[in-house]
Amino acid sequence: MLDDFIARCRAATTTETALTDIRAALGELVADRAALADQLELHGADVDQVFHEDDRLTIMLCETSPGTDQPPHDHQLHTMIGIVDGAEVHRFFHRTDTDLAPTKGRTIGPGEVLSMTPDAVHAIAALGPEQCRAIHVYLGSISTVERSLFHPETFTEEPLSIERYTEFIRPTSTSA
Ligand SMILES: [Fe+2]
Repeated sequence: MLDDFIARCRAATTTETALTDIRAALGELVADRAALADQLELHGADVDQVFHEDDRLTIMLCETSPGTDQPPHDHQLHTMIGIVDGAEVHRFFHRTDTDLAPTKGRTIGPGEVLSMTPDAVHAIAALGPEQCRAIHVYLGSISTVERSLFHPETFTEEPLSIERYTEFIRPTSTSA
């Protein structure tokens, strides 16, 4: 099932309908959560497990524990997120001339898929009480693309690194 999904996404990346095809495939994947959960090795901790990464495509499982708010960041790639378990709170922002301005957020739950454009800026938190497990798909190599990270209070922009991302995580202020 997971292997089929990865193969389907890889094939789609070379077509003009990559975005719609991958979104459909991700929707089908997370729609059958029970079957999918059987195939996933879960850690019960904040772990990103990469299933596939090349220049065109990254597919990973992100496990996120409730209790913290992650910092705003972009991806510079088309991004799709499908929720397997739990729920993910997304705060969205738009860039102004000088910094970021918060816009309407969204919470997605099991079986739902969220798409973001490459310039989208978001910050996530697991809604809780359970851990959030989500399949993240990026239309490119997420570990090598140059991305932006924003300070959680001042919104000052800087190049994203895992170290600074971790430093900017705060106790949660997010609610449903
Ligand atoms: Fe993100």
